[in-house]
Order: sequence, then C-alpha cells, then structure tokens
Amino acid sequence: MDALDIARLQGILAQIEHDAAQATDRGQVATYIPELAKIDPAQFAIAVSLPDGTTLTAGDAAVPFSIQSISKVFMLAIALGRLGDQLWQRVGREPSGLAFNSILQLEREKGIPRNPFVNAGAIAVTDAVLAGHQPKDVLGELLRFIRMCAEDDDIHINKSVAASEQATAHRNIALAEFMAAEGNLRNPAALTIGTYVHQCAVEMTCAQLARAGRFLTNAAGAPRLVSPARVRRINALMMMCGHYDGSGEFAYRAGLPGKSGVGGGILAIAPGRASIAVWSPGLNERGNSKLGSAAIETLTRETGWSVFG
Ligand code: DON
Repeated sequence: MDALDIARLQGILAQIEHDAAQATDRGQVATYIPELAKIDPAQFAIAVSLPDGTTLTAGDAAVPFSIQSISKVFMLAIALGRLGDQLWQRVGREPSGLAFNSILQLEREKGIPRNPFVNAGAIAVTDAVLAGHQPKDVLGELLRFIRMCAEDDDIHINKSVAASEQATAHRNIALAEFMAAEGNLRNPAALTIGTYVHQCAVEMTCAQLARAGRFLTNAAGAPRLVSPARVRRINALMMMCGHYDGSGEFAYRAGLPGKSGVGGGILAIAPGRASIAVWSPGLNERGNSKLGSAAIETLTRETGWSVFG
C-alpha cells in the first residue's frame, strides 16, 4: 500500500471514529460478567494492521479490553495444530442460529456443539487442548501464541475478569456437564471451565488485536504461524459462525470473516489485505458490538475490502 493509500485509510478511520463519537444509541454493555458491566460504554477504538505490521488507529486504540470470545479463534488454531481434523469428531462446523450460550441444540445433537465459536463448542475446544496438560501450561501456550501473533509480549490475562466470570459461570458449567454426560468432555468440568474463563479474560488493545490477526490474512509479508489451508478454514468458520445468530447479518453488512466478543471487540479479516480490530463495549441484541459492527461495515464499504468484491 503506498503512502497515498495509507493517508486515505487513516482518513477513513478518523471519520469512523468521529461518527461513533456522535452515536446516541451505543447498545448495552454485558452485565452477566460483573467486571464487564463496569466498563465505560463511551470508549471506541479501531485499528487496521497491514501484513507488514504497519498499524493505523483511531480512538482509544491503546486501551486494553477483554477480548472474551475472540480468544476462541486463537485457541482453535492451537487445537487444530495439536489434533488436526480429529477435532471435528467433537465439534461441528455449522452455524447455530441460536444465542452464543444456548443449550438447546446440545441436547438435540447429543452433546456435539454446532461449531467451535458458540460457548459449548469453544469449551469442547479448550477441553481438547487441555487433555493431558495443566491449565497453567495451556494458558501459557495461549498467551505465547497470541504474543507471537501480535509480536508484542505486553499481553496478559485479567485475573479479576476471570474470577468475575467464574463466579457467574453457571450456564457454561451446565454446557460442560451436559457434554460430559454425553461423553464429549475429557477433563472434569471445573478444570475445563476454569481454563476457559481465563482464556476469555485475555486483555489486549485494539492495536495489539489487529496486529495479532495478521496471520489470518494469508497475505505475503504477514506472520505465517498456521498453514494457508488451515487459515482459509478458520476464516470460513469466522464468516459462518463468528457472530453467532448475528453471523448472517455481519456477513451481509461487512462481507468479511469476523469474530466478536462480549467485551465489545471484533476481529475481522480482509484476506490478503489487512487485519481489523474494533472495540466499542455496547452490544446489540445478539451480543455483538453495536458500533463495532457498524464501523466494520463502513470500513469495507469505503475500502472495497468485502470478500465478495
Ligand atoms: O463464555 C462466555 O459467556 C464469555 N466468556 C464469552 C462470550 C462471548 O464473548 C460471546 N460473544 N459475543
């Protein structure tokens, strides 16, 4: 990308941030994890990282936030590296059409979660990585992997957020116990959920998250930490399942694979071009960042980066 394009992109980001600052309806911050309910919903950040690591930002892009379900993408990459296609015996690859924490399908489908991004599926993925290892080692591996992706060691787990989620994790414990009843859990539910809530409590800034996503662009010059074939498949899952029952709407509006988190972050990938992170803590009714989704829609419209041309 030449200097003129970079200047234009910076202008688009500044405009998106300006528009977000005017918004009156910013959605609702998640309250079921009490620590997240304390976050100021007025904050907004956007960052675009180019394959070589050049990162453009606007807004609060240096403020760390809880990446929550975005961590599921990184744990999935680790799980696929360790188990390969065997992972798919335990987790499906179809969109769920249901809320991220729903238990309905799990009963009907005999303890096999629809995809690795709904909570049940992500818990199964974490459980698969954990089997035969200690939680601290798995969390250490996750942090090392994310730090390597971002080329930044200043990325940590927020223990207060993890404790806060653990104290209210009844639904996730129910999902894990249900999978155990169906023979789809390898560790005690408490161990798997304890690992999972810490994984979700990883904190990153928008700039760090955008940089960390570059390995998913399959672009020349980006870090190659996962094989190109696997990157394509992770992107397919993000496109179809990354926003839960809002995945169709996100694909329709943004035209990019993306993964949201209840902390208000979204990681979106423009294959071959850039990794994009947004953060706005207020969520829409599907639990995805309200202004964040709109910001990525504007960005793809202005840049022409939709995967659909
Ligand atoms: O398991 C949970 O409920 C949270 N740790 C993560 C959920 C989440 O981020 C859903 N995304 N929008």
